[in-house]
Amino acid sequence: MAAGATRSQQIIERCLTLSRFSEEPGRTTRTFLSAPMRDVHRCLRDWMERIGMQVELDAAGNLRGLYPGLEPEAPHLLIGSHVDTVPGAGAFDGVLGVVIAIALVEALQGRRLRCGIEVAAFSEEEGVRFGVPFLGSRALIGTLDSALLARCDQNGRAVVDAIRDFGLDPDYLPSAILKGDLRGYLEFHIEQGPVLDNLDLPLGLVEAIAGQSRLELRFDGHANHAGTTPMPMRKDALAGAAEWISLVEQEALAAPGLVATVGKIEVLPGAGNVIPGEVRASLDVRHANDDSRRSAVERLVNAAQEIAARRNLTIDYSTRLDQSAVACDLDLVAQLERGVVAAGYPVHRMVSGAGHDAMILAQRMPMAMLFLRSPGGISHHPDESVLPDDVEAALQTGLSFLENLT
Ligand code: GLV
Ligand code: MN
Ligand code: MN
Repeated sequence: MAAGATRSQQIIERCLTLSRFSEEPGRTTRTFLSAPMRDVHRCLRDWMERIGMQVELDAAGNLRGLYPGLEPEAPHLLIGSHVDTVPGAGAFDGVLGVVIAIALVEALQGRRLRCGIEVAAFSEEEGVRFGVPFLGSRALIGTLDSALLARCDQNGRAVVDAIRDFGLDPDYLPSAILKGDLRGYLEFHIEQGPVLDNLDLPLGLVEAIAGQSRLELRFDGHANHAGTTPMPMRKDALAGAAEWISLVEQEALAAPGLVATVGKIEVLPGAGNVIPGEVRASLDVRHANDDSRRSAVERLVNAAQEIAARRNLTIDYSTRLDQSAVACDLDLVAQLERGVVAAGYPVHRMVSGAGHDAMILAQRMPMAMLFLRSPGGISHHPDESVLPDDVEAALQTGLSFLENLT
């Protein structure tokens, strides 16, 4: 097997190894600081220490490995992605970016660059456990604040409790914050969509990341007997929520560039012979244009209020995330583009519809991202995959980028 094929195969095997560390048997689910995260850390630490990196777990549960440069004063480059997952995840979302970062350092074979490289495996990006994403990367820029630390999961455990449960000390969170100047942040990630696959391209240069809103809505009605309560006398919270959910879909279909999703509902009390008294529903809205996204959110919340009023329900909602679209750094993207060209691959620039830790790091330093094709455009699903040749293309691009980083 050629050297390139061997190393891309090793990267894919490492991702598959990590995908077996899960909270649930038979599928990959790994939320913020859950028990299997320890196994992920053990493997990543081993891979990084074997190639001479100094590894530390910060107080937010981010595993960080430093490969020092020749000039200790030169601002170092951060390369990272996340190692938490959605429920029933694939093996590559997030994890691939961390494993590629380690492989890049490994490919240097002990040779030092002018600047150091820090590899970060972020503890939380998906927002599954606490309904708010990017907890890991926020710790690096000092925005994992007291309101976020107090957020509770479904079992009433707060973020701060989860940190302690994992054996970490939240008092040390300030020391997780990046110090001094950083050269920039680079993230490798699968595209998670069909664009590159449709164009038959291995790589995509990200120019901007679409903004996103995440909300939780609560429809309150009245639980009652399903056999005795006449239809006109009901306050069925689920029937109201269902009407609203199909309107969310219609609204997004009608507005170019808008995507809107109700991905989670909870129905209480949750029995076949009881009229639903309460429904909690998530709402995820994204658009490359922040004004379009925010006005869509307003329309959808107004629609929920109108439906609730008409059906004698009440409604309550909270905004969990209002993240603006983020542009990548022009100079760093240009440097990455030169890496793509030098490695002999076609250039394609695109906007990311998915959210990434890069959005958070961009608040602190220049940021660039490289996408790898997602075969079939499949992600957030066990069938998620990546092609060995595309992994090799990303590695060659990354190496050329590192060699020529100014
Ligand atoms: C992250 O996967 C997102 O939801 O965009
Ligand atoms: Mn994801
Ligand atoms: Mn991801």
